[in-house]
Amino acid sequence: MSVIIAIDGPAGSGKSSVSKEAARRLGCGYLDTGAAYRSLAWDCLDQGLDLEHADTITAVAESHEQLRPLNPDEQRHVVRGVDVTDAIRGEEVSSTVSAVAAHHDVRDTLNAGFRRLVESAPYPGVIVEGRDITTVVAPDSPARILLTADEAVRIARREAEHTGVTAEALVRRDAADSKVVNFMTAADGVWTLDTTEMSFDEVVDAVVDYITQRTELQVLR
Ligand code: DC
Repeated sequence: MSVIIAIDGPAGSGKSSVSKEAARRLGCGYLDTGAAYRSLAWDCLDQGLDLEHADTITAVAESHEQLRPLNPDEQRHVVRGVDVTDAIRGEEVSSTVSAVAAHHDVRDTLNAGFRRLVESAPYPGVIVEGRDITTVVAPDSPARILLTADEAVRIARREAEHTGVTAEALVRRDAADSKVVNFMTAADGVWTLDTTEMSFDEVVDAVVDYITQRTELQVLR
């Protein structure tokens, strides 16, 4: 069975790129749970559904049969046969995904799917990245990490990615999400790494060191 490595953090903390690179170095799978919420939001928007209606959104979450990619180098997201990889990063999904993620039944449904996926994953470990992974999805994981960074640095990093995400949108989304899940402070036993003053490579090195100290996983490259 795959060991779960849990990585949380606010937008712009670098969690996606760090998680993916750490997964490559350790020969692990990578599960982007934010992409699952985004794919669900895309699907609901595409079908013209009311995002406030918990039962409707939960039914869609239950019906979501899309294959979630686990290979860190092949992250294509497909919903009902449509490749939504780019669309789920767009403004429309980014500004509405918090509404979808706010429903507790939706979260329970997706989380159960994440656990099933990791249990059968063809990797020695899976780095699972997202807002409540250290606390709800994998509280027993041997390596639970919270990446943080000062808000100004997080905004600058997002701008450097040229995703079109404005400072205002990033702060607004973090505020909406933190009403549902507290991802700014670490739960007991979760290691917090403040990346404000660190380069990308320094963060990856620190994360990989921490994981190899706490699990049987080894650096492959
Ligand atoms: O990490 P991200 O920006 O791709 O996440 C997209 C949205 O989904 C964001 O509003 C937070 C939410 N999310 C969540 O509530 N729980 C997760 N495990 C992952 C993402």
